[in-house]
Amino acid sequence: MLLPRYTDITHGLCQRPARISPKYFYDQQGSQLFEAITQLPEYYPTRTENALMRHHAAAIARAVGTGRVLIELGAGSCRKARALCETVRPSCFVGVDISADFLEDSVASLQRDLPWLDARAVGGDITHGVDLPRDIPRAGRLVFYPGSSIGNFDPPHALELLGHMRELVDDDGGLLIGIDLPKDVAILEAAYDDGAGVTAEFNRNVLRHVNRLIGSDFDLAQWQHRAFFNREDSRIEMHLEALADAQVRWPGGGRVFERGERIHTENSYKYPLPVFTDMLARAGFAQAQAWTDERDWFAVVHARP
Ligand SMILES: C[S@@+](CC[C@H](N)C(=O)[O-])C[C@H]1O[C@@H](n2cnc3c(N)ncnc32)[C@H](O)[C@@H]1O
Repeated sequence: MLLPRYTDITHGLCQRPARISPKYFYDQQGSQLFEAITQLPEYYPTRTENALMRHHAAAIARAVGTGRVLIELGAGSCRKARALCETVRPSCFVGVDISADFLEDSVASLQRDLPWLDARAVGGDITHGVDLPRDIPRAGRLVFYPGSSIGNFDPPHALELLGHMRELVDDDGGLLIGIDLPKDVAILEAAYDDGAGVTAEFNRNVLRHVNRLIGSDFDLAQWQHRAFFNREDSRIEMHLEALADAQVRWPGGGRVFERGERIHTENSYKYPLPVFTDMLARAGFAQAQAWTDERDWFAVVHARP
């Protein structure tokens, strides 16, 4: 029996072209593979954002203020929050992530290393709203959404998600968000199709996770990784392409994928900074201060209502 919450997967698989939401990349193995991606020479976003936050640490700390209630969405390893906590000394930290077991471990490790911090883990899908523990104060909240994860949503959904972030904070709150900026196509495409094949393994792992969630029988060896920049929509697209005709079954359904047919697994939009700050304003964050690296590859934006 298919759990009702996974009907989005079977619905997406039956579309032409088929699609799977990128949130399903992140089971325990997917989270570990993402951590491996962040270490790859081609994957500039994590390295650039970390360097940017280190370089501007004092200015960022002045802008966001100390003693905040820090809420990181899609927190993963909490590595970026760890560095931020050391400079802004929040009163409490809440990490939220769909990959709940991986998050639990990350928050436990953060708590061990920063014993003065009240650190909490909340497993959940942020696209379904963010349910925080009742004792998390509303005053002084700072939502942290690094890694350019906002780029995984198409613009209307990104705007909607930014609107939910606005609802999470009072007028004294803020949002600190990382965005990947448009750049040379060769650099973008290499970042999503590395020489060691780690991103390909990350992409194929979504099928392993889907097999577990809906009981399907995808054979991972039948699918190859595809990543390219779509100029018209200013986004990297990741797909899985069938190497041969493939019959896939799951309880209550199934379909045939012909050789060369693709499943669209991820978009990663690259917004010019003014386009993004305009989106922030439309979501209710009218004031924005941005820091960029010297190559203008990445921006960290502090936005306030
Ligand atoms: C690209 S990784 C970024 C991780 C980390 N914040 C960073 O900047 O390195 C995206 C993170 O968001 C989480 N995630 C993806 N979709 C999510 C969703 N719908 N709800 C909650 N977390 C989600 C993933 O599990 C993963 O940890």
